Amino acid sequence: MLNELANLHQKCFPHKPWSADDFADLKKSGCEIIASQNGFIVWRAVADEAELITIGVAPDARRTGIAAAMMGIMEGELKKSGVKSVFLEVAENNAPARKLYEQNGYVQVGVRPKYYDGIDAIMMKKDL
Ligand SMILES: CC(C)(COP(=O)(O)OP(=O)(O)OC[C@H]1O[C@@H](n2cnc3c(N)ncnc32)[C@H](O)[C@@H]1OP(=O)(O)O)[C@@H](O)C(=O)NCCC(=O)NCCS
Repeated sequence: MLNELANLHQKCFPHKPWSADDFADLKKSGCEIIASQNGFIVWRAVADEAELITIGVAPDARRTGIAAAMMGIMEGELKKSGVKSVFLEVAENNAPARKLYEQNGYVQVGVRPKYYDGIDAIMMKKDL
């Protein structure tokens, strides 16, 4: 399963793919992972805050609502366990992801200049 996840991650992030071992380490560190044939989402909750660590959908399955659905599942799980807010970071030039997050109620709360190889990271938050 983790090998399939690594293959899917490679399709979504060809310039910085994560290995099956990377995903195993994330699980060991307390991350939650939901994955299907076409998409994955990874988050970590600590006390009443959570971080959306990554999300990806296979290129040929995009714009069918998979990412929004996975975020909805994540948020449902977080609410059940008492989490009050979710944070994430997204590259300033990643227009599809920024639109996805804005559409789902995330608002900008800060900027980390030049965080991703010279590209600013936009920090976003959603109160659940
Ligand atoms: C960002 C990503 C996860 C979106 O996945 P998706 O399943 O295509 O997204 P959805 O179909 O759920 O889209 C939900 C909304 O997000 C916005 N959106 C998603 N992709 C978009 C695009 N290419 N352009 C503009 N808006 C987009 C739209 O508002 C969309 O609603 P609509 O289709 O009704 O207009 C996907 O493009 C991806 O895997 N990208 C590469 C990995 C990545 O950058 N991950 C995020 C790292 S921070």
